[in-house]
Amino acid sequence: MDLEKFDMKPWRIGIAILIVLAIVGIVAFALTWRSEIPAVAEDAQPDVERTLASKGYALAQLGNCASCHTAKDGKPYAGGLAMPTPFGTIYSTNITSDRDTGIGTWSEEAFARAMRKGIDREGGHLYPAFPYNHFTKASDDDIHALYTFLRSVPAVRNDVSSNDLTFPFNIRPLIAGWNFLFLDTDQLEPVSDQSEQWNRGRYLVEGLTHCGACHTPRNIMGAEKSSEKYQGAMIDNWYAPPLSGDAARNWQADQLDNYLATGFNQDHGAAAGPMAETAVNLSQAPPSDVEAIAVYIASLNDGKGQRLTPIDNQDIDVSASAHDLWVGSCAKCHESTAEVGPSKALPLSFSGAVRQSSPANAVRTIVNGIDAYRDMGGAYMPGFADILSNDEVAELAQYIRRRYSNEAEWSELEDVISTARSSAKGKE
Ligand code: HEC
Ligand code: HEC
Ligand code: HEC
Repeated sequence: MDLEKFDMKPWRIGIAILIVLAIVGIVAFALTWRSEIPAVAEDAQPDVERTLASKGYALAQLGNCASCHTAKDGKPYAGGLAMPTPFGTIYSTNITSDRDTGIGTWSEEAFARAMRKGIDREGGHLYPAFPYNHFTKASDDDIHALYTFLRSVPAVRNDVSSNDLTFPFNIRPLIAGWNFLFLDTDQLEPVSDQSEQWNRGRYLVEGLTHCGACHTPRNIMGAEKSSEKYQGAMIDNWYAPPLSGDAARNWQADQLDNYLATGFNQDHGAAAGPMAETAVNLSQAPPSDVEAIAVYIASLNDGKGQRLTPIDNQDIDVSASAHDLWVGSCAKCHESTAEVGPSKALPLSFSGAVRQSSPANAVRTIVNGIDAYRDMGGAYMPGFADILSNDEVAELAQYIRRRYSNEAEWSELEDVISTARSSAKGKE
């Protein structure tokens, strides 16, 4: 969230938000009051149909459900992952079929209401850290399949910590105000002059795969700005680059398909950080759906798909120490003469991270490495957190910036490096 733009102190923003949300919240809460949906009796749940459950599994992969609903080293879907937000920490819930700590007592009606309106079985409002503003676009059939799949997930007893949010954000009914202002529950109408594949891609991207949750910048109330859809945003101290307009022109549909389905593309490199998780999930989704997503995303730029011009300013004047660090730690992978080495490192001549105005992704990649694809035999880069000092990371970052881009040196590297280091620790 870019507070600077508003030239306001954070506490004033807090009060402004409080007032707006309180007024809208009271009105909206009164208008949208939702009652509790009765618990389903244990023996009243119908048997799980296997084919439907496997369709639901594929949809859950498309929707990253397990990524958010699984804590580090926790059981799948049992919740408890801490999600830091500007307003405090939110914990994902247990969505296994456990009757006490999960959603085992939820009827399909209750589940559908949560997905569409962000309201839990008891009638309480859920925080939009749960991307129901996208899931609301899912069809009845898809919600039915997801519900069936979740009921097939073994029940895990896991009492999740309650959220730790600052006042006034800890008052759930205020979310009614947020929903009133920002939640659009209309279903998408197919666009008739576009292909079926494009429409399928749009349905998934706007809905279950919630690409905009990371790639669209948010306003001060944490809602995606509809006027800046897919124009790039910071997420968990990573930069999710623009997926539309000129900045994304160098992505063709086939490259996108390859990058999304495998986490790697020869012309662009590997997906790292939160995007790696998305790509790993998409690798388990139906290939035809990933292709449809690629076709739709490619249509968000002018569709001409220009190739990036490689940049390699080999004769830059750099300190001997920066050059030594590069040769000692990086060159053996990134300058290998093999077209694509065993760990699939590319020359940084094509690197998007090196050209971006924010050093976040380059620094995070150097500090944290890329290890999401180990089980898939994909791209791997070791993290250098324990090997390089902050000064060395900074020196290397400026080295690759000067050598592989024509942009100005990065500023504020110190902050970005220490953030990357502490985020890396948080994941251990
Ligand atoms: C970006 C993270 C994220 C993703 C992706 C996500 N969820 Fe959640 N979900 C949450 C959080 C956080 C909550 C709890 C919100 C709160 O406390 O108000 C939640 C709550 C829920 C709830 C309400 C449960 C309860 O006990 O109140 C359901 C149901 C749910 N999610 C289902 C899903 C499904 C199905 C998917 C995939 C299609 C999914 N979620 C994907 C973060 C996520
Ligand atoms: C959880 C957050 C998150 C979600 C959800 C997400 N992305 Fe990303 N995405 C990122 C981040 C962060 C990066 C930068 C990672 C990197 O450069 O390695 C990225 C990078 C990308 C890139 C490379 C862009 C470039 O210019 O280098 C593409 C393409 C992309 N995402 C497409 C998608 C699509 C399509 C979806 C939905 C199916 C999606 N993303 C969902 C966070 C996300
Ligand atoms: C064991 C091989 C290996 C080593 C050593 C290595 N890398 Fe990487 N690096 C990779 C792989 C694989 C990728 C992902 C594919 C790609 O983008 O080239 C990657 C990606 C990157 C990226 C992201 C490119 C982008 O645009 O997303 C940067 C920046 C980077 N490396 C910098 C470095 C630096 C600086 C060093 C030395 C400190 C280094 N790497 C050492 C293998 C390596």
